[in-house]
Amino acid sequence: MGFGKGYGKVILFNEHFVVHGVPAIASAIDLTTDAEVVRHSGKGIDLIDNRKGTKGYSKEKYAHQMEALKRVTDYMKFNVEKNPIKITLGGNLPTFSGIGASAANLVAIVRAINDEFRLSLSDEEINNTAYEGERAFAGTPSGIDNTAATFGGLLWFKRGEKNAIERLAIKKPVEIVMGNTGVVANTKEVVAGVRERKEKYPERYNKIFEEAEELVYKAREALLNYDLKRVGKLMNENHRQLQDIEVDGKELNFLVDLARDKGAFGAKLTGGGVGGCMVALTPGKELQETVASAMEKEGFQVLRTKIG
Ligand code: MEV
Repeated sequence: MGFGKGYGKVILFNEHFVVHGVPAIASAIDLTTDAEVVRHSGKGIDLIDNRKGTKGYSKEKYAHQMEALKRVTDYMKFNVEKNPIKITLGGNLPTFSGIGASAANLVAIVRAINDEFRLSLSDEEINNTAYEGERAFAGTPSGIDNTAATFGGLLWFKRGEKNAIERLAIKKPVEIVMGNTGVVANTKEVVAGVRERKEKYPERYNKIFEEAEELVYKAREALLNYDLKRVGKLMNENHRQLQDIEVDGKELNFLVDLARDKGAFGAKLTGGGVGGCMVALTPGKELQETVASAMEKEGFQVLRTKIG
């Protein structure tokens, strides 16, 4: 039996912009999807998905998941007809949209196949393989999700011919709250929508993209200086930029406003947007609890976790 894990993630700055080469900052969170792989006597891949999370998530993503598994096994030159396998998914990372569930699941599966069949893949190869699978979920993914899912930690990421990936070390981890709108979003469509609008309204979009690029350098400095008030303000600004490229949503904006009202240092949507999750910066257990319980009172699922 082979085992593998992949981390969930939160994007703190510049989802979507990152697809087009603008740097972004993401952090892995301490929740993982776990995969177990056993050889079986059936045909091809038998997938048992025991992950918990947003209702309907696994069903909604089933076609993408199957395409992703085909892409991943083809890329690995792993013959599933010759080596039929049963994959069981579990772990404590919920299947919320925006939390990197697809990338975490692919990294976990690739690691588990690697483990069971003793393929000796390096982390870099595991990351590249998971990226191939991510294309099924996100169309033209930047690679930030699978990178966070593979390596963990707080990361600076810039997509390029060779991606620039840098670990950012901060003084100590910071509490965050992730609020789930409960809306499953189709990341592929949202990413494609941004591309279409960017081509249609180049002047307006290029200006926002330039602002997002300027902002992320300030955010990096604020994080490294552990100036959390400033990090929060910049998250608020980044949310505004994401609204300008039209990837926000009613429930996301509601949760972002609620978090700010309850004292979060900053709040924004995170991940693909439209539905999915938002993130609030809430240093200290007490503030984290205040913000998290306010969201729960409104009937939303939340995660209390940390970045860094
Ligand atoms: C999804 O978690 C993040 C996006 O920027 C897509 C990507 O970077 O691949 C929306």
